[in-house]
Amino acid sequence: MTALLLDVRDLRVSFPMANGMTEAVRGVSFSVAPGEAIGIVGESGSGKSVSALAVMRLVAQPGRITGGEILFAGRDLAAFDEKAMRTVRGRHISMVFQDPLSSLNPAFTIGQQLVDTVRAHRPAATREAARDRAVEVLELVGITEAGRRLSSYPHEFSGGMRQRVMIALAIACEPKLLIADEPTTALDVTIQAQVVTLLWQLREKLGLSVLFISHNLDLVAEICDRVYVMHTGNVVEHGDVEDIFLRPQHSYTRMLQNCIPRIEGVEPWSAAALSSAGEVAP
Ligand SMILES: Nc1ncnc2c1ncn2[C@@H]1O[C@H](COP(=O)(O)OP(=O)(O)OP(=O)(O)O)[C@@H](O)[C@H]1O
Ligand SMILES: [Mg+2]
Repeated sequence: MTALLLDVRDLRVSFPMANGMTEAVRGVSFSVAPGEAIGIVGESGSGKSVSALAVMRLVAQPGRITGGEILFAGRDLAAFDEKAMRTVRGRHISMVFQDPLSSLNPAFTIGQQLVDTVRAHRPAATREAARDRAVEVLELVGITEAGRRLSSYPHEFSGGMRQRVMIALAIACEPKLLIADEPTTALDVTIQAQVVTLLWQLREKLGLSVLFISHNLDLVAEICDRVYVMHTGNVVEHGDVEDIFLRPQHSYTRMLQNCIPRIEGVEPWSAAALSSAGEVAP
């Protein structure tokens, strides 16, 4: 059996509150094999983002990891210091968030931001080499006239294109794992489908492993092999995507499914369902 790329075991994350510690993540385990895409679904506040941020060791202070292991390529990130984590973030594990504008610096062109990202992890790279890489990754994420777009500022891109730029930044240093936390939530349904398709293509082309977080079971099913369902800080169910869709065991999963608009006679994870999703969206 192939060794797991990410193996999170019994992860616990707590936030100190006025009346004591609140445990946002209560002993969660999940894993990602090399080249695999897994999904984490669950309602708002169920602990999806906190779990992902814990993997990156970016849980907002004073929150902290209070238990468990985060084995990445066999090494426990939970035991890494900040300096060691800086060599992991971006280089080995990257994350894209819901709102690209909050992650992109409005004062710098995307070319500058891409070149800086490449050079942060490859100090030996010349500016020309870093620029070539910037063009290459923009092309990979489907941005046309990539060379010319290097001198554009974030606000000059549409929402969907900005999310592509974020993904370009995330993959610029060839990470093994991409964590995408609600990467499509702020976008309209057609653009959502395009971003999901892009993630799928990158996974195929680059052998990237993906941890995809969403409220939307249908989008998760579109690219993920397995899915974990979270509820109040716990994983309540996990399994192959089709099993979870066809035979959800937990009443909470059934409830999540029932929240999603369905198209008569179309499997929810089919391309047909996605392409016509716009017709049924509220
Ligand atoms: N900085 C923080 N301080 C205190 N509590 C926090 C903080 N961040 C998250 N939490 C708590 O942790 C719990 C899990 O939050 P989390 O952001 O992981 O939810 P989520 O599943 O990602 O929800 P959403 O779908 O809305 O993004 C919530 O109850 C939240 O209030
Ligand atoms: Mg979240």
